[in-house]
Amino acid sequence: MQTRIRRALLTSVCAACALLLWAAYNHGIAADCSDGASESEIAAGQIAGKLLADAHMDQWKRKNPERAKDWVAEEKERHAIKPPADNSDLLKGDQGKGHKYGQYTELDILMWARETEKMVVDGSRIFHDANALGSTVAVSCDMCHPDGANTHPETYPKFQAQMGRTVLLRDMINWCIEHPVRGKRLDSDDSKMRALEAYILAQRKGTPLNYGKH
Ligand code: HEC
Repeated sequence: MQTRIRRALLTSVCAACALLLWAAYNHGIAADCSDGASESEIAAGQIAGKLLADAHMDQWKRKNPERAKDWVAEEKERHAIKPPADNSDLLKGDQGKGHKYGQYTELDILMWARETEKMVVDGSRIFHDANALGSTVAVSCDMCHPDGANTHPETYPKFQAQMGRTVLLRDMINWCIEHPVRGKRLDSDDSKMRALEAYILAQRKGTPLNYGKH
């Protein structure tokens, strides 16, 4: 009986630790994203800290599958999303020697890929979600652009007749938000706009740039 109580106590302490680490990890990510140039230099210790927090989080998720759904994995199951570039070549030879923190490590490469992919996956989530887009007519982007089709980000900047000027990809995204989607245009720096741009560009991976093309 006593062992059972002790075990239950230990489990709840572990879960609390995992939650704390998770909160600290997310806070760290938010700080990394909103800072200026000097603060964006992530110290190697911080990276290791994040990965440690992740490891704890994974453990917690395995024990609490219902409470901790992994939205990145779920979105990737729902929609085909192109993976970011493979940077594992940087681990070979002398390529990383000039880097501020010496040679790149596997942790760096893992962290870059994971963080980049997270932004793109967030874009996919918004692209497919009429509510997140603020649509007043329940329309999301994928209804006309399945898997990001016909968005041609590689052709921007280009002259768009309906706006009577040369525009960037984000202007066209806003045009579609205001017209077919009937929502409110997003600020250029809005996190949703940034994620949508990231997703649309990612889906055209490998296509050569050709600005101005109609
Ligand atoms: C009801 C259909 C519809 C929906 C929904 C829609 N679009 Fe569009 N989209 C269009 C049409 C039609 C065009 C072509 C407009 C033109 O070039 O004159 C277009 C063009 C674009 C382009 C430029 C393509 C090019 O070839 O230059 C982008 C980028 C784009 N849409 C993104 C989005 C995004 C992001 C959303 C969701 C917020 C969205 N669209 C929702 C119909 C739609």
